[in-house]
Amino acid sequence: MPRKFFVGGNFKMNPISLEEKRTLVKVLNEADVDQNVEVVIAPPAIYLISLKELLRGDFKVAAQNCYVKTSGAFTGEISPAQLADAGIPYVVLGHSERRTLFHETSKLVADKTRAAIDAGLSVILCVGETLQEREANKTKEVVEEQLKPVVEVLKEADWSKIVIAYEPVWAIGTGKVATSAQAQETHADIRAYLAKAVSPAVAESTRIIYGGSVNAKNCKELGTQKDVDGFLVGGASLKPEFVDIINATR
Ligand code: G3H
Repeated sequence: MPRKFFVGGNFKMNPISLEEKRTLVKVLNEADVDQNVEVVIAPPAIYLISLKELLRGDFKVAAQNCYVKTSGAFTGEISPAQLADAGIPYVVLGHSERRTLFHETSKLVADKTRAAIDAGLSVILCVGETLQEREANKTKEVVEEQLKPVVEVLKEADWSKIVIAYEPVWAIGTGKVATSAQAQETHADIRAYLAKAVSPAVAESTRIIYGGSVNAKNCKELGTQKDVDGFLVGGASLKPEFVDIINATR
């Protein structure tokens, strides 16, 4: 079965006025979008439920993070079970901002992934190298090191619930998008790693999406690369051009 193109919009913690929110939801709800694309929007947690209610039925919402435990004394955290209970189907885990600013290790990201899958959520799992690591030719090694603990904890789990987002750290929010050749090469490496570490069937069916300065102009070329199955979009997901990114392969 061909892999369904996937476009995620990560709003991060960006300020967006009520008026801007209404305008954006109106644009998305009225847009003529490719029905062969799965669209998932990740707003700040406080807006998850209201956005889910306002958004058209064919778009889903995602949390930007969750904790590893089901319940307990973990002030400020949200559990995967609570997300599932609120009808939130996806969670973004391992974003580079979580890894860098909040010191999340690959082991913690893997444990969160396992907890999310066990709660019935689907996961957008982010990996990616820094500029220093790319310049040292360590991209393949770094993404494999980030994926390895996930492979170890998931074991026989249902990989159809995982979307891998390759997001080179140097491309996030910088306007320096990876070239289509750079994205394709790393996506192919990730797929080869999945074939070896999990199974050829999982490698073939898992969506691997690209994130980092994707916009309406560069999405078409990136989106036609053999192993690029969609995008995780930050800044441009807050603008009407997000619709053009959803329709990149149309
Ligand atoms: O999760 C999204 C990525 O961090 C990309 O952000 O499109 O603003 O570069 P960006």
